[in-house]
Amino acid sequence: MHIDQLSTAELEQQLAALEARYAELGQLELALDLTRGKPCSEQVALSDGLDGVLAGNYLSGGVDTRNYGGLEGLAEARALFGSVLGLPPEETLVGGNSSLTMMYQVVDFALSEGLRGPQSAWGNSDTVKFLCPSPGYDRHFAICEHLGIDMIPVPMLDSGPDMDAVEALLREDPAIVGIWCVPRFSNPTGCTYSDATVERMAALPRLAGEHFLVMWDNAYAVHTLYDDAPQLASIAEYCRAQGTLDNVFQFGSTSKITHAGAGVAFMGSSPANLAAFCRHLGYQSIGPDKVNQLRHVRFLQDRERLAAHMARHAAIIRPRFESVLQTLEKELAGTGMGSWTSPRGGYFISFDTLPGLAREVVRLAGDIGVKLTPAGATFPYGEDPQDCNIRLAPTFPPAPAVEATVEAFVVCVQLASVRQRLGT
Ligand SMILES: Cc1ncc(COP(=O)(O)O)c(C=O)c1O
Repeated sequence: MHIDQLSTAELEQQLAALEARYAELGQLELALDLTRGKPCSEQVALSDGLDGVLAGNYLSGGVDTRNYGGLEGLAEARALFGSVLGLPPEETLVGGNSSLTMMYQVVDFALSEGLRGPQSAWGNSDTVKFLCPSPGYDRHFAICEHLGIDMIPVPMLDSGPDMDAVEALLREDPAIVGIWCVPRFSNPTGCTYSDATVERMAALPRLAGEHFLVMWDNAYAVHTLYDDAPQLASIAEYCRAQGTLDNVFQFGSTSKITHAGAGVAFMGSSPANLAAFCRHLGYQSIGPDKVNQLRHVRFLQDRERLAAHMARHAAIIRPRFESVLQTLEKELAGTGMGSWTSPRGGYFISFDTLPGLAREVVRLAGDIGVKLTPAGATFPYGEDPQDCNIRLAPTFPPAPAVEATVEAFVVCVQLASVRQRLGT
C-alpha cells in the first residue's frame, strides 16, 4: 500500500516489523558492497585472450609497436576505436589506459594553456564554470573541483540534461566554459540522450562562445544489456552541420570491454584540436603503449566481433540488474517510498528515496554491513539538494550477494521512510 494511505497505527505496525527485520539483518554480519561500477571477475576473464594474442608479431602496418613514438595512436587502433565513437581515424586519438586521464588533460589544457593559444585559456578569467548534469559521474565533478572550476548542477531528464535549463544558464552566464555529458546509458541514471538533446548539445557553442567545450564521455557506447537498447545519435554529424566540431571532445575506453585499468582509452575531436592536444601531450609522453593497442585490435578485431564480445558481458551482468529490479518492483512498487531507473545498458541503477532520506538509508545500510555509494556523490560538491539519490552498481558482486544486498537495501529504505512519516 502507498505510504500516504497508511494510518498511524498501520505505520507503527510496519515500523515494529521493519525494526525486527533490520535487527535480524544486523546479526548476519553482512559484508556487502554495491558501490563502484567495476566489472566482475567473469567479465574481465572474457578478455584473457589478450594475453598472447600477438604471438610474437608486434608489427602493425610496418610500425614496430615495441618502440617509442606515435602519440596519436596506431592507425589500426584509431580506425577501430574511432568507429566506436562514430568518427574517422583522423578525428580519433588512441592513448593509454584511462579515458578519465584524457578528460583531465583536456580540461587542464583548455584551462591553463588554451586550446587555441594563450589568449583562449579559460584561466584568463577570474571565474570559470562548468555545467554538471546531475545526478552524474562523481569523478567528472572531482576534476572540476580539483582544478578550481565552479560547478552548476543541471537537472537530468529521461531525454538527457534539461536543455531548456542548459540554454538559459548559458544565455545569462558567460563564465560557463563547458558541460559534462555521459550520453549513452548515463552514469548513474542509465538514460540515453534523445536525438533532439544531441542536436541541441551540438549547437551550444553557438550560444556559449568559441571556447566552450562539450565533454562527451561516451564511456558506455557499446555497453548494452538488451538488443533493443536505445541508440545514440552522432553528435559529430550535428556538429558538422553546425560548424562546431572544434567544440566537442568525445571519449571512450575499453575499461569495461576488456581489462579495467589495463585497456585502451581513446578520444575524438576535430583534427585541429587533436593536433593542438598532441603538441601538449608531447611534453608529457613519447608515445602510448602501442603493444597494448595492437593486442586490443587483434583481440577485438572489428565492430561485429566487439558486439559479440559485449553480448557475452551482457549475459553475465543482465541477471544481476534484473534481480535488483525485481526486488525493487516486488517490495517497493506502489509504496511511494522510492523510484528507480530500469536501464537498457551501462553499469548503474539510479534510486531516489523520499526527499531527505538518501543519507539516512546509506547510513542504515552501512551499519548492517551493506556498503552503498555515499549519498550526494552523484552531485557536484557531494551535495544532493533533495538528499534523495543513491547509485546502485550491481555488476561487481556475485549474483547471490547482489540479491542479499538489495533485500537489505529495501529494508533500509522502508525503515527510513516509515520513521520519517512517523517523525521518529
Ligand atoms: C562515465 C564514466 N566515464 C569514465 C569512466 C572511467 O573510464 P576509464 O577507465 O577509461 O578512465 C567511468 C568509470 O566508471 C565512467 O563511469
